[in-house]
Amino acid sequence: MSRDWLRSAMVALPIVGLVTSAAQGAAPPADGDAAIAQSLAEMLRDARTVVSNNQDLINNPELGDKHLTGQVVLDQAVKSYTQATGSDPATVDPKSRQGRLLRAMMAAIVAVTDDNQATINEKGTGFKGFIPAVFARLVSEDFNQMAKGEAEVKVTAPPELVRNRKARPDAWEADIIKTKLLDPKWPRGQSYSAVVDANGHPAFRIMVPEYYAASCLVCHGSPKGEMDLTGYPKEGGKVGDLGAAMSITLYH
Ligand code: HEC
Repeated sequence: MSRDWLRSAMVALPIVGLVTSAAQGAAPPADGDAAIAQSLAEMLRDARTVVSNNQDLINNPELGDKHLTGQVVLDQAVKSYTQATGSDPATVDPKSRQGRLLRAMMAAIVAVTDDNQATINEKGTGFKGFIPAVFARLVSEDFNQMAKGEAEVKVTAPPELVRNRKARPDAWEADIIKTKLLDPKWPRGQSYSAVVDANGHPAFRIMVPEYYAASCLVCHGSPKGEMDLTGYPKEGGKVGDLGAAMSITLYH
């Protein structure tokens, strides 16, 4: 594949309009890559929300076994996924690329939750550090192992907000955050995607923006610099600020 082809693809392919409709829950776009990426993002987000909805249970120091197993988290995530997309992941052909990758994401959700049962079920400790961001990072890492060479998922953020260095944006991600997602004129909630060169291969890359909700500000809010309950300085974020970007790469 020539460089010229790549360069023109980069110019021609930001199919942002299509991708937004999927992000908002409308029918998935015909484009295969965008549909696959959006379905992976949706599944990871849904599972992260399950952890968020169960945060009080996880943080309960009185209870031992919380019965929050990998299967329980996956079942709840699949329920939200099916509601949001109108399609049950079980019906996606397991031999298709989407079916394979979606099942890898689901397997990662189960594995990470099951691997952390000792932490989740620890009696006598309230805050255990098992929070949505950590869960999403561990699931992404597991998924990336399973999908090696085919796909990569990462939750990143504007560089000045990044807490865990593993979440730092790479050059392309930092550029898209700065020039697109943080641009005041960028339509809220709209993803950015392009076909670019990644590690020497053409790849479909997409950045899905996420914004701080009130619930995030206990840790990421004000006063800036004050320690939050996890031991990190708060970022001074406000409701509606760009707080995260889900970055998905599909290698061709
Ligand atoms: C209980 C405190 C807490 C809350 C509430 C919280 N976060 Fe975080 N967040 C953290 C911690 C701690 C990390 C670092 C996780 C790690 O080690 O990977 C983090 C990491 C992140 C990351 C990954 C990038 C990085 O900085 O490492 C993003 C993005 C993020 N949070 C966004 C959010 C959003 C959006 C919300 C609300 C929906 C939220 N957080 C709610 C504590 C919190």
